[in-house]
Amino acid sequence: MNKVQLETIVSLAKRRGFIYQGSEVYGGLAGTWDYGPLGVSLKRNIMDQWWKMFVDGREDMFGVDAAILMNKQVWKASGHVDTFTDPLIECSNCHGRFRADKIDASKCPTCGKTDTFGEARQFNMMFKTNIGPVDDDNSISYLRPETAQGIFTNYKNVLDSFYPDMPFGIAQQGKAFRNEISPRDFIFRSREFEQMEIEYFVHPSDWEQEFEKWRKLVWEWTAALGLPEDSVHELEVPESDRAHYSKRTIDFEFDYPIGREELLGLAYRTDFDLENIQKNAGKNMEYRPKDDSTPYVPHVIEPSFGLERAVMAVLCAAYTEDEVNGEKRSFLKLPDHLAPVKVAVSPLLKNKPELVAKAREVFNELKNIYGNVMWDDNGNIGKRYRRQDEIGTPYCVVVDFETLEGDSVDTVTVRHRDTTEQTRHPISDLQNVLFK
Ligand code: GAP
Repeated sequence: MNKVQLETIVSLAKRRGFIYQGSEVYGGLAGTWDYGPLGVSLKRNIMDQWWKMFVDGREDMFGVDAAILMNKQVWKASGHVDTFTDPLIECSNCHGRFRADKIDASKCPTCGKTDTFGEARQFNMMFKTNIGPVDDDNSISYLRPETAQGIFTNYKNVLDSFYPDMPFGIAQQGKAFRNEISPRDFIFRSREFEQMEIEYFVHPSDWEQEFEKWRKLVWEWTAALGLPEDSVHELEVPESDRAHYSKRTIDFEFDYPIGREELLGLAYRTDFDLENIQKNAGKNMEYRPKDDSTPYVPHVIEPSFGLERAVMAVLCAAYTEDEVNGEKRSFLKLPDHLAPVKVAVSPLLKNKPELVAKAREVFNELKNIYGNVMWDDNGNIGKRYRRQDEIGTPYCVVVDFETLEGDSVDTVTVRHRDTTEQTRHPISDLQNVLFK
């Protein structure tokens, strides 16, 4: 894969309206990011692709959208109140705070003083809040640190409404919040981010074969994101590093500009969560097989996808530089289904009403078909191509004087992003040309 610097991606993302620093006008808020028009489109395309692949494209999957705020007992029972912590150390000189497992504690990365760190203490990463007007222990709640618990708490509801065959899964996309000690590396480690999670319920004796099936599906997912196979790596997580609920975890890592880091995780959560609900809520979580064999509490395979890490991997993998007519060009070689803008339509000259009127016709027609189609009449045509290349638009369609009269009437130029090739086609044939 081509090597790109993180700063290049951050700068392109800001300049071209993908991703901005959160609350930037007030000096920013660490660990938060805002998505601009192109970023939100890219994010939605990734989410839609995921939903299509893992929910709509299957018979055994059910979607939910649970509340972010949940009864605090959820987080006690799940183990998050007691164990969802990172080790925190503080420099006695500059009072900088760091994650003990992420720095060399012999020297403070901020002030450079040596031996200024004491013992690490465990810092709980959940954002605490109070529900309602009274600020006391009874009103405590948390912003969810994972979407998974909203699935476990709805497992019985889905079972009762649909009585699915085993195995089956419940999927959810939504915000998660973690009070990260050191948010860093652009959107990679944020305090507010989005997860796309599946809890896949299986018979306890089937967990290994189902885990293997999900392992393969994760590879299909990374391919659908356009990530080159050799940029994605499996890491078998040793027991000492696994989350408290997991008996087996494979992290799928990506070669980010910041190094090889976790893109998503695949975990075997056993019956940890459903058993906890049984114990703490006193509700029966057993599945009654349709053949009247012995009821059981299902075990769970959990593929957990972080949306921001997918966005960052997609941008890094797509970023490409080449040379066109002796000039350096940078473009996003995005898969068609992820491109935020599908087609840009231009009149060759914006001060010729007859060209503009015809181009508007083509624009409206294509917008009806492809949705995110951009009108672009700014600057000369070469500049428009470069601008669209930089945001990954697969095609530019240009209406020129040949479109209006002569042998080529009602034809347009189609300019292809990756090859920069220009081809000429009847307007009526565009649907057979674009995205074929
Ligand atoms: N329910 C399981 C779970 O939450 P996790 O490994 O803690 O597991 C899953 O998180 C995924 O969420 C990670 O692989 C990553 O993609 C994403 N993620 C976790 N913390 C994040 C953060 N601070 N910023 C952005 N993404 C994060």
